[in-house]
Amino acid sequence: MSSEAALLSALEGGKPSPPPNRRVGLIVAGVAGGLGIAVTLAAIPFVSPALRRVCIPYVPATPNQLANVTRALGRTGLNPKELSPLIDLGSGDGRVVLECAKMGITSSGVELNSILVAYSKWSGFSSRSSLAAPVSFRRKDIFKTDVAAYKTAVIFGAESLMGDLVPKLGEMREGSRLLACRFPLPDNEEWKMIEQIGEGIDAVWVYSRK
Ligand SMILES: C[S@@+](CC[C@H](N)C(=O)[O-])C[C@H]1O[C@@H](n2cnc3c(N)ncnc32)[C@H](O)[C@@H]1O
Repeated sequence: MSSEAALLSALEGGKPSPPPNRRVGLIVAGVAGGLGIAVTLAAIPFVSPALRRVCIPYVPATPNQLANVTRALGRTGLNPKELSPLIDLGSGDGRVVLECAKMGITSSGVELNSILVAYSKWSGFSSRSSLAAPVSFRRKDIFKTDVAAYKTAVIFGAESLMGDLVPKLGEMREGSRLLACRFPLPDNEEWKMIEQIGEGIDAVWVYSRK
């Protein structure tokens, strides 16, 4: 027995240490098990929305959709100050918030997925030199967020969510703007549709609060 093995054996109370192959096997099994647990834990925030009554999966805005959002904001005829503050409801990786802040609109995002919130914060910090207005991100449920103070809201949700959102968005004041991406609002008394920008999956509907 080598001196190292003898020392290990002494530390383990005289029990013989496992043969080297078994030890490597145990290490590999431990690392694989640890990785499996880490991957499972990281997947929870992405999978758990599917368990909610209203399921909105994480699907990032396409480059065309983003361009349509900025075009729609530009066409409102309002300046960045008049469009501020803006909120992205379900902000994903923060790309919409960052794009709006590049236009000089003070922008924030609420998002359920804590990994995406952390990523958005890091993105905001690392691209701060290209931003013309402050950004902020919070882990919060859309339906528990007070939206009354926002002059502009952006939502890229799910078709089944749009009807449920109408009462929540009703908290916003007269003249506020809403951009609905990919899915329009159902007919309602509170929001007047101004125009549709783009087509298909990249379409953005612009509304004004009556
Ligand atoms: C279709 S993605 C849009 C992401 C981002 N706005 C974009 O355009 O790239 C919808 C996002 O809403 C988040 N989400 C789903 N339900 C939510 C809720 N109740 N409150 C806050 N965020 C939610 C999802 O985790 C997902 O990141």
